[in-house]
Amino acid sequence: MRAEIKSLATYVPPRLLTNADLEKLVDTSNEWIMQRTGIRERHIVDPGVATSDLAKEAAIGAVERAGLTPTDIDLIIVGTVTPDMLFPSTACLVQHKIGARRAWGFDLSAACSAFTYALTVGGQMISAGAARHVLVIGADVMSSIIDYTDRATCVLFGDGAGAVVLGPANDDYGILDFEHQVDGSGGPALCMAAGGSRLPASHDTVDNRLHYVKQDGQTVFKFAVRNTGDVCERLLRRNNLTAGDIDLFVSHQANRRIIMSAAERLGLPEEKVIINIERFGNTTAATIPLALNDAVLSGKLKRGQTVLLTSVGAGFTVGAVLVRWGL
Ligand code: ACO
Repeated sequence: MRAEIKSLATYVPPRLLTNADLEKLVDTSNEWIMQRTGIRERHIVDPGVATSDLAKEAAIGAVERAGLTPTDIDLIIVGTVTPDMLFPSTACLVQHKIGARRAWGFDLSAACSAFTYALTVGGQMISAGAARHVLVIGADVMSSIIDYTDRATCVLFGDGAGAVVLGPANDDYGILDFEHQVDGSGGPALCMAAGGSRLPASHDTVDNRLHYVKQDGQTVFKFAVRNTGDVCERLLRRNNLTAGDIDLFVSHQANRRIIMSAAERLGLPEEKVIINIERFGNTTAATIPLALNDAVLSGKLKRGQTVLLTSVGAGFTVGAVLVRWGL
């Protein structure tokens, strides 16, 4: 049995952090950020607001739009690298907040690939007959782990959440196939070093700013361009598809240049690519649902179209999911 996306909802906190704001915090400029990344502004939370708060808003929207109530949900998967706390999982917090009394759930850690991975796992649970309605959420409060004195990272990220409800597919719609890959040798290029069992929180870890995202931007950039293309090509080939069969390319939004390089390599023209990084920055697990939402609202994504979702994130993790859109 194939799984289908039955609804989609997103949420971003109202407060904006613009490039002009960042110019006051670090030695950067709107021109540099726009030219190197494509980002103009991002949404960030007010103090005290956590990932489960954003996830809850998106989850309630998705359940309502699916014509369901929270007690119809069997399973909740939250993709995130910024859980409210190490445990309990954000999925447990969301389950309680929305009153999904029958659901079990867990968090999925795959950084920026968390949404494609969670979509796959949720879809497979439906295919196996182990769940009927799965709530898949990608949510991150990246501002909680960003060093706003580090210009190499602080310009990139924003906060947000997106959720879909998966259910058994009607007709030919739904998740057609997926192709995922990890390359754990890339770990040091993008990580938050402290706060886990290797370097538990201490005065030293705080003094050395180890509870923030650190990255080697160029290594991440090169890996992303090369591997997004490879994984997508494998997925298309296995399904006897070419770029001409893809109606929309919805990539993780890390950098405008990464997305366009991957699209060019796949032979996808710009009109088949959705880019909304300008308004949200990189919201990690939330970028793909935020991009899907914009694609629907702008009329770029319509029922019956074939969509190629793709992601690359810390780990490194790489993902691609082929979907026939049924909304
Ligand atoms: N403002 C102004 N100058 C800056 C800034 C900034 N915010 N950040 C870096 N620079 C400077 C650097 O110091 C460097 O100066 P130098 O030449 O005097 O040494 C210069 O700009 C060029 O730096 P590069 O790192 O070579 O710039 P690059 O073109 O590679 O762009 C960027 C950097 C935007 C981080 C890019 O490498 C990138 O997007 N990488 C992908 C990383 C990413 O997206 N990671 C987070 C997401 S993880 C994920 O989603 C997979």
